Amino acid sequence: METRKGKPRILTGDTPTGRLHLGHWVGSVERRVQLQGDYDCYFLLANMHAFTTRADQPAEIRRDTIEIVKDWLAAGIDPERSTIVLQTEVPAIAELTWYFAMLLSFNDVMGNPTLVHELETKGLAGKHSFGFPMYAVGQCADILAFRPVYVPVGEDQEPHIEMCRKAARKFDQLYCGVPDRTRDEDYEKAGGVFPIPRALIGRVGRLPGVGDGRQKMSKSLNNAIFLSDDPRDVQKKINRITTGRQSPTEPGDPDNVLFEFVEAFIADEGRVAELKDRYRRGDNLGDGHVKQEVAAAINTLLEPMRARRAQFDRPGGDDVIVDIIRAGTGRANATAEETLYMAKKAMKLDFGRRVLG
Ligand code: TRP
Repeated sequence: METRKGKPRILTGDTPTGRLHLGHWVGSVERRVQLQGDYDCYFLLANMHAFTTRADQPAEIRRDTIEIVKDWLAAGIDPERSTIVLQTEVPAIAELTWYFAMLLSFNDVMGNPTLVHELETKGLAGKHSFGFPMYAVGQCADILAFRPVYVPVGEDQEPHIEMCRKAARKFDQLYCGVPDRTRDEDYEKAGGVFPIPRALIGRVGRLPGVGDGRQKMSKSLNNAIFLSDDPRDVQKKINRITTGRQSPTEPGDPDNVLFEFVEAFIADEGRVAELKDRYRRGDNLGDGHVKQEVAAAINTLLEPMRARRAQFDRPGGDDVIVDIIRAGTGRANATAEETLYMAKKAMKLDFGRRVLG
């Protein structure tokens, strides 16, 4: 568990599907920025996973990959302290995916609730590629290649982390002689190659999109506020939130979508309590006013991100990003190759130690 920097590791990542939005921020990215000081952090660009549904869009996937790194850096991820990893340049991940695929049952993978949900909501049922369900197994390898203690993710990823834990236990029991009654936190001490990593769910498990609040915030549902949106767009999008309340003097129930935003983005708890109280009593507090305060709070959060992003949104900016990806991936390969060697040794596959050029 101790690393070259003497800190426990964490790993998490994003599939490049477009720009990051506020749901990503409150669900995971905010957490990552905070954890950088105390943990040796690996942040993975899951570009291989993007190909499982968009194999026909290589140029878009490349663009989305670069954009996501800009969002990370804008959000405060520091490439000097944390390691940015490009999945397709880490061969150990692809290899470990094969080995884990043989430790998980076909029915467990196909029944993974997140996969099942995606098949339904993305209209993929019956049409998806053979590689699509493989991404869930690949995600076990993404994580375990770095032997982290924690995986900070949004609520929707929990089934994947559970599957990863299952694969790690199975590996350690089968190839390292770890007894099956071992407590999760003791697997490495008991001789296992892999720790049993734990999910760290973000401050807000599920942020609704702008609208009536029934759907979660998502780019494809067109209800997202992006980290790179300008102040006017933020206000316009916040104005799309509907509560059904008619007038500022009508007593309102703050258990609504607008107040989910209040809770998520207005940091001053006293102010949140006051707004709720006045809303409940119908004390001359209109939705419009609350929306202005919410938009202002979001803009205060996003302003430093916009400033940092501007450094990369100019000619030559993409090259800087590619250099950052290369440097991080080089460091990541040192860790992942070490893990792969340990795993292959446990599997009696230590016929030669590979050195990546
Ligand atoms: N599946 C994750 C998502 O869609 C992205 C991801 C890929 C990931 N590999 C990972 C997250 C490993 C955490 C750990 O958001």
